[in-house]
Amino acid sequence: MTTIALIVAAGRGTRAGGPLPKQWQMLDQRRVIDHTLAAFQNHPKVDQIAVVLHPADMHLGKTFQDQGILVAQGGNDRATSVRNGLAALGNGHHVLIHDAARPCVSEEVITAVIDALGAGLAAAPGLPITDALWQGAEDRITGKVDRTGLYAAQTPQGFDLGMIRAAHDAYNGVAADDVEVARAAGISVTMTPGDADNIKITTADDFARAHRILERRILEMRMDIRTGNGFDVHAFGPGTHVMLCGVKIPHGQGLVGHSDADVGMHTVTDAIYGALAMGDIGQHFPPSDPQWKGAASDVFLRHAGTMVRDMGFALTHMDCTLICEHPKIGPHSVEMRKVMADILNIDIARVSVKATTSERLGFTGRGEGIACMATATLVKS
Ligand code: CTP
Ligand code: MG
Repeated sequence: MTTIALIVAAGRGTRAGGPLPKQWQMLDQRRVIDHTLAAFQNHPKVDQIAVVLHPADMHLGKTFQDQGILVAQGGNDRATSVRNGLAALGNGHHVLIHDAARPCVSEEVITAVIDALGAGLAAAPGLPITDALWQGAEDRITGKVDRTGLYAAQTPQGFDLGMIRAAHDAYNGVAADDVEVARAAGISVTMTPGDADNIKITTADDFARAHRILERRILEMRMDIRTGNGFDVHAFGPGTHVMLCGVKIPHGQGLVGHSDADVGMHTVTDAIYGALAMGDIGQHFPPSDPQWKGAASDVFLRHAGTMVRDMGFALTHMDCTLICEHPKIGPHSVEMRKVMADILNIDIARVSVKATTSERLGFTGRGEGIACMATATLVKS
């Protein structure tokens, strides 16, 4: 069963005012109708789109047709526009009838209607009324209405195409929407969750509201990128080798430390904790705890890598700089990158290991120890 979105855009937008009917006015660098169409074009479960235009606007339909959108001619009231649109569609489909004036419709709202159509003949989003409701006459409050069981009707309203077509053909009178037409034909309609952002641009103020909604959505979509830095130092002491970034390098001295003193891997691990704002290595693996004595540092790095995934991030890059006069790092850097990439379960191209001397200055220059700094980049996945 294919799903067609039928976008009704033949109204004149008299309440919104402005030089053009509201669907043709600009909203965040695109016309209102372009936002609405994009919501359905981008939806993975929508197979075809049809748009209903006012007779005076038919010339504007050419660019839609070029994109594979079906264009039908509307009528003097919304129901006529819907009827004309339905007549232009083929058979054997689900149809989602949507107001062009609702450009902020979300993927979730559309999905819920489509999914509900799998189980029933009709479905539409409703938003529970939360404000108290009054009756009024001019500037007087004359009474109240109990809001229990009241919902604001939204679109898209989804139907079995043949059924809604027959319901519209049989309907006499004025209908606010297609659910009303369907219900008059005895079709039971499932209510799906509406969305407060799915506003219908009706008055001039609504353009500013829609702008704020779209702007907030862009901000939410913007990628959440975190960076963290790490810095560590270990002093040289007696020994025959050093462990650096998981690689054992023969050397006239060793590095002093509680675990295997792998200053590179400790720094990289700390950079990851920093990006997650989850403390540091000493917090997760206290040096006072005897179980970490002589521990291989890959335990620490593996822990940080798992934490990245558990917190919904992906480690996209690690850059590590070792600072020492000796041993020479260059011959080992590829092996170091490979070891750490394996532990972190990422591509070696995302792990950089480089080195510098400090020009014989300071403690690293005097060969008293090795320092390391690292930067981790995480992206919310
Ligand atoms: N619509 C339509 N054909 C009509 C009337 C309305 O296709 N003859 C469409 C509108 O373009 C809009 C949706 O139905 O996308 C909801 O209607 P409404 O908000 O009332 O829009 P307008 O009729 O354009 O606005 P107004 O009532 O203020 O003139
Ligand atoms: Mg109208």
